[in-house]
Amino acid sequence: MPALVLLGAQWGDEGKGKATDLLGGSVDYVVRFQGGNNAGHTVVVGDQKYALHLLPSGILSPGCTPVIGNGVVVDPAVLLSELSGLQQRGVDTSKLLLSGNAHLITPYHTEVDKVTERFLGKRKIGTTGRGIGPTYADKINRVGIRVQDLFDESILRQKVEAALDFKNQVLAKLYNRRSIKPEQVVEELLGYADQLAGCVCDTTLILNNAIDDGKVVLFEGGQGTLLDVDHGTYPFVTSSNPTAGGACTGAGVGPTKISRVIGILKAYTTRVGAGPFPTELLDKDGEALRTIGGERGVTTGRDRRCGWFDAVIARYATRVNGLTDFFLTKLDVLTGWEQIPVCVAYEIEGKRVEELPYSQSDFHHAKPVYEFLPGWSEDITKAKSFSDLPKNAQAYVKALEEMSGAPISAIGVGPGRDETIQINSFLD
Ligand code: GDP
Ligand code: IMO
Ligand code: MG
Repeated sequence: MPALVLLGAQWGDEGKGKATDLLGGSVDYVVRFQGGNNAGHTVVVGDQKYALHLLPSGILSPGCTPVIGNGVVVDPAVLLSELSGLQQRGVDTSKLLLSGNAHLITPYHTEVDKVTERFLGKRKIGTTGRGIGPTYADKINRVGIRVQDLFDESILRQKVEAALDFKNQVLAKLYNRRSIKPEQVVEELLGYADQLAGCVCDTTLILNNAIDDGKVVLFEGGQGTLLDVDHGTYPFVTSSNPTAGGACTGAGVGPTKISRVIGILKAYTTRVGAGPFPTELLDKDGEALRTIGGERGVTTGRDRRCGWFDAVIARYATRVNGLTDFFLTKLDVLTGWEQIPVCVAYEIEGKRVEELPYSQSDFHHAKPVYEFLPGWSEDITKAKSFSDLPKNAQAYVKALEEMSGAPISAIGVGPGRDETIQINSFLD
């Protein structure tokens, strides 16, 4: 079982950090393959709570080598401050590997992200403002700056000047902002070179060799399936591919090497930022989910929008990722509801629809069709096996599994490492 992908099956914040950390002890490498510090992964180990943004959650497991792959966009200032924050708490970060092909988020990308959102006004995406979209745009436009450019001053200077030639026109003439001096950016970037040099390498070679040697490699997605730029609720998405295929391009590993794809699925649904969300609750149930579930963004501190479980989305995630397993998280948050609505299909202009519509207009008009499952009131946070769960909680899990199209192999009943019910091993 050498290579596993672990990814978000909804709109992010499903509990990927906790799931990765849980596996970290049995895994040799944990690899981020897309996104950047727009991610916010909370990991609770004993009485310690860690908020990770750019670093793979496996960094907290001593035997595990954390890797930032070529598909990630890296803000070097954020990377260094996250590393030093962990070092101060006694975490060994010396094993980190960073792809020389990963693209750098520079101060002008962050600036463009913020001014673009301001310019869009009420049509804004609600980005995290971390420069993610503009950095991926430059990558695709072939005017990006890569980690390896830090080590060739003259190339770095040429590339920054070329990128800013155009961007400064836009900043000054369209957005009425001050232009950015290439020299200043180059100086700042060069200042990171020595600090990063020790971990920069050809990560695709190392990872492919590791898989061939039978080592266990875990690819940890940021964001989630419905935020995927190809398969998500475009344009209300992030600018990368958090779906399973992204692990191949974002780490340089072929699909034949991937043996398992685990979708992290919250027992209800949340979303941050703008965009359609059929099961969103704007009433006291939504407020209760937010409060009980602690649904506040780890990166931006924004309240997350909350709603009931949406099986149409879960089925879609199974399809576009080829999921082999689900890890159902936050079941404990649903304790105390007399009955729990679950969206089993949509109604779109009077018609029942079982699959996620590809048309943006149809999805905007989708109304949830609910089935009501009986709730439970017993505390489930101490449950260690499936049979420890109250009958109605068992039935809720079984119903979700049936609707979602892949086995639920683990269940989260609390934020801690040990608050997990493992049904099937992920490592067989
Ligand atoms: P990620 O972005 O997918 O890693 O998820 P976040 O860390 O942004 O949000 C998930 C939150 O739920 C974090 O605060 C976790 O500590 C917490 N969490 C994860 N699994 C569980 C669970 O099973 N039960 C409860 N109550 N909290 C959980
Ligand atoms: P994790 O890894 C939830 C959302 C933003 C916005 C959209 C685009 O913690 O699950 P971006 O800054 O990426 O250009 O913003 O994507 N978004 C997330 N929502 N969890 C995340 O990461 C997210 N990363 C980005 O809120 O709607
Ligand atoms: Mg998160």
